[in-house]
Amino acid sequence: MNDLAKLPEEQVRAEHRRLSETLKTQNKAYYQEDAPEVDDALYDRDFRRLKEIEAAYPDLVTPASPTQTIGAAVTKGFGKVRHKVPMLSLDNAFGSDDLREFEGRVRRFLGLPSTEDVSFFAEPKIDGLSASLRYEKGVFVQGATRGDGQEGEDITENLRTLQDLPMELQKGEYSIPEVFEVRGEVYMSMSDFQALNANQEKAGAKVFANPRNAAAGSLRQLDTRITASRKLRLFAYAWGDASVIPGQNQSEVLTQFKQWGFSVNPLSRVCLNMGEAIDAYRKIEELRASLDYDIDGVVFKVNRLDWQQRLAFVGRTPRWAIAHKFPAEKATTTVQDIEIQVGRTGALTPVARLEPVSVGGVVVSNATLHNQEEIERKDIRIGDTVVIQRAGDVIPQVVEVILDKRPHDSTVFNFPVICPVCGSHAVREKNPTTGKEDVVRRCTGGLICDAQAVERLKHFVSRTAFDIDGLGAKQIELFYKRGWVLSPVDIFKLEENDKNRLQKIKNLEGFGDKAVRNLFGAIDQRRTIEMDRFIFALGIRHIGQGNARLLAKNYGSLGKLMETFSPDYPEPGKAYVDLLAIDGIGDAVADAVKEFFSETRNREILQDLSEQLSVQDFEAPSDESPVSGKTVVFTGSLELMTRAESKAKAEGLGAKVSGSVSAKTDYLVAGAKAGSKLKKAESLGVTVMTEQEWLDLIGG
Ligand code: IVH
Repeated sequence: MNDLAKLPEEQVRAEHRRLSETLKTQNKAYYQEDAPEVDDALYDRDFRRLKEIEAAYPDLVTPASPTQTIGAAVTKGFGKVRHKVPMLSLDNAFGSDDLREFEGRVRRFLGLPSTEDVSFFAEPKIDGLSASLRYEKGVFVQGATRGDGQEGEDITENLRTLQDLPMELQKGEYSIPEVFEVRGEVYMSMSDFQALNANQEKAGAKVFANPRNAAAGSLRQLDTRITASRKLRLFAYAWGDASVIPGQNQSEVLTQFKQWGFSVNPLSRVCLNMGEAIDAYRKIEELRASLDYDIDGVVFKVNRLDWQQRLAFVGRTPRWAIAHKFPAEKATTTVQDIEIQVGRTGALTPVARLEPVSVGGVVVSNATLHNQEEIERKDIRIGDTVVIQRAGDVIPQVVEVILDKRPHDSTVFNFPVICPVCGSHAVREKNPTTGKEDVVRRCTGGLICDAQAVERLKHFVSRTAFDIDGLGAKQIELFYKRGWVLSPVDIFKLEENDKNRLQKIKNLEGFGDKAVRNLFGAIDQRRTIEMDRFIFALGIRHIGQGNARLLAKNYGSLGKLMETFSPDYPEPGKAYVDLLAIDGIGDAVADAVKEFFSETRNREILQDLSEQLSVQDFEAPSDESPVSGKTVVFTGSLELMTRAESKAKAEGLGAKVSGSVSAKTDYLVAGAKAGSKLKKAESLGVTVMTEQEWLDLIGG
C-alpha cells in the first residue's frame, strides 16, 4: 500500500491532517467517553496509514500527532521522571559489630584522629515506598517514585492527595530555596491498613498482604480519587536536587523540614558516638511493636553534612549511611514437596512447597532451598517440619529442620541430573581455575529449553529492563505458549507479523480492546531505549544494572560494543584486555561479555533487534568534569585527603585512578616524599601537580 512516493506532497499532507483529526475524535470517544465510534479494524488501518505518512514525512511527527499522544498519555499512564540526583539504597548491617565496622570505615576514609567522635543521626527505617518531591520557589511541582533509582514514575497528582505533604513550603529559619527535592517514605499506618482491608473485603475487592503493598497499590492509581480515599502518610528524611541545603547537619535539615510543614519521624535523634547509636537501635527495636506503622530497622547517617559530602557514594549506596535491619522473622511449618525451577541462566533451583504459614504478617508457601549442597547440608526431606525465616523483601529461606518431628516416611530428595523442562543434561560445571565443581547445576539446553527462553523474555521486559506496560511475566508466558513471542524481537513484530493479532490477543482472557491497543502503544514507546537498559535486558550472565551501565559508558554505542567483540575484530586480544581494564569489570564479567557477543545466535538476535529499535548512544552526565576520562596517579603522602577519599573522589568525577605511572598517565598528584613515581612521571613528561593544584582543578 506504499503509494506515498508517487503522490504529490500537498495531497499527503492533507491526508495527514484529515486522518489526525479523525483519529483524535475517535480517541476521545474511545478513551474518555468509553464509547468507540468505529470498529477496531478501521481505526487500526487509519492509524497505520498515519504512521506510514509520518515515516515518509518526519516533520509531521509533532507532539500533538495521535501517533505520539496515544502511546504517551494513554498507555503509559504515568510519565517517566529522570532523577537529577539518583535515588539510591542503603547498605545493611546485621549487628553491633557491623555498625562498629561501619564507623571504622568512616573514620579511615576521613582520616579522623581517635580523639574525634563521629556523631550519627538515627532514624527508624520506614517500611514503605520512597518518593521524591520537587519544590520550585517553595511550590510543589512534581513528585516521582524511586523506580530503578535513575528514573521513576510521575505521581505528582497522586501525591497531592497526601495530608503530610505541603503544597507550599511554610517559612522557616532559612529562606525558601529556588529548587529543593525532599525525599521520604510514603506509608500506610497499621490502623488505616486494617480499616482498608476490612472495607475491601466487604466490597469483595482484593485485600492487601501488608501495609507496604497497600501503600504501593494506593499510590500508583491512575484515578487519583482512589489514592485520596486511602489515607497515605509521609515521613521526610532525605533530599535530592537542591539549590541550597538548609543546615550543616542531617538533624538541622530535618528540623527545617518540620518548619516547612513535613512530618519527620519523632523517634529520630542525634547520637554523639557509636555507643549511643547502638543504644538508639535497642530503644527503637523495643518500641517497634507499639508503633502504628511498620519499620524494618534503624538507619544511621553521619550527622555532619560536610563529612557526608566527602564520604560520597560507592556504587549504589552512600558511604555515610547504613541500615541496621531487625532480625528476620521466623515460623515453623512442614515441607510438602520439593520442586525444581529452571531460571534464565539454566540454573536448577530447588524450591520447598510449604504448608502455608504467616511470617510477620505475610503468608508464605514457598521457600528457596538454593542448591543441592544446601539441601544435603541441612538434610531437608519431604515431610520434614522446618523453621523458615523471612527478612524484609528477601525470599523466605529454610533455617533448620526440627529432627524430633521427622516422620518415618519422610523422603530424601533426589536432585535431578536432567532438566525437568527440556530434558537436556543438567551439569555442575568445573571452575577452570580452582577445579572445583560449581554449586549450581545448570541445564545445558540453552535456548531450546523453554524455561530459559521464557525466563529470559521475562527478564527482557522486566521493570528495570524494557519495562513495557501491560507486558509482564504473565503475558509473556501466554504469548510464548502460543508461539507469538519466542525471542525478544518478536515483541516488536507482534503487531506486524499477523494481521489478526489484535483480534487474537483480544480473545485471550484478561485482554480488552483498550488493553491491546495500549499494549501496542507501550511497545512502540520502547522502540527507543537507553543503551544501559538495553544491555541489561539482554540478560548476559553477571551483567546487572551496574555493569550494564559501565559497559554503556565505556563503549558509548551498541555498534561499538558489537564491533569490538565481533569475530572480525582485528585485535581480539586487545579488546579483551581493554574490557578488563575497566574499573569494576573482573574476569568473570569479561568472559561473560566476550562469550555473549561472539556467539552467532546472540549476534543474530542483536542484529534483528537493532533493526526494530533505536538504541541510544550513552549520554554522559551533562556536567562533565574536567578530569573525566583522564588517568591519574596519586603518590607520596597526601595531607588534605586520605588516599581512599582522593581515589573515590577522582573516580566519582569519571577519572581512572591507577597505581603506576605510564605514558598513558595524564596527571601525577604528588604529596610529600614522592619518590620513584615522580621521577618516572617527569621523565615521561606527565603533568605533575600538588594536592592543592589537583583540588583546584576538580573544583574543591
Ligand atoms: S535514606 C541515599 N532514610 O530505605 C540513601 N531511607 O534501603 C537514601 N528508607 O530507598 C535513603 N526509611 O525507601 C533513608 N530514614 C530513612 C529511611 C529510608 C526508609 C528506605 C528508602 C530507601 C531504602 C534504602
